[in-house]
Amino acid sequence: MTLEGIDGSGKTTLQKALGVYLSDLNPVITCEPGSTWIGEAVRRAIREHADPVAEALLFIADHAAHLREIIRPALSEGRLVLSDRYVDSRLVYQQVTLDGILPDPLSWLRAVHEGWTIMPDLTILLTVPVQVALERTGKRESGEHFEQESVLTRVHENYMDLVDEDPARFLIIDGTMPPDHILRVAGETIRFRYNESKKKIKRKKN
Ligand code: TYD
Repeated sequence: MTLEGIDGSGKTTLQKALGVYLSDLNPVITCEPGSTWIGEAVRRAIREHADPVAEALLFIADHAAHLREIIRPALSEGRLVLSDRYVDSRLVYQQVTLDGILPDPLSWLRAVHEGWTIMPDLTILLTVPVQVALERTGKRESGEHFEQESVLTRVHENYMDLVDEDPARFLIIDGTMPPDHILRVAGETIRFRYNESKKKIKRKKN
């Protein structure tokens, strides 16, 4: 299961709280970009304003390492996995950064992931107005190129297009609601979906 949203939507805070709220399920808490040397290379590419294609390919390389080192082993043990950002982040952010560079960034991004990635059962999308997100990230004073108003507005629209394509995979939560309310809605939905998927696996085995 994954958490998505524009910068400043509150995913990272929510993920930390979920780790505690769902601790009885012993979840694997992880994120993209990850903590391997490839994840470090991604952060460097962001910092140093690397070529957009190079940057996109590094995010994808980071995803491959993430799948191999964390996601696949955890899923094969039947663990609950909670990733702060995942494939959708590429589909929505790199669709913007590759606009004008590739003829059809979304199709390209999908094609590069095809055949080896694993799509999440559930994606929690935290939505906040771009102005609110900017005020929040402004406080953090990071000046990443992804955090500009025009970029975040398009990223938000891209997320909503993904929801339109596959509404059953998404739970949209208003990120301006009180944090304990967001935590309960997200936590109980994840718990329910996880228990359902365990039941399904059990039925298949019998
Ligand atoms: P992240 O570390 O999640 O930052 P934050 O905690 O501020 O959300 O991600 C760093 C930036 O990288 C963020 O602006 C989103 C962007 N990003 C992409 O553009 N593509 C991707 O595939 C991922 C995982 C992140």
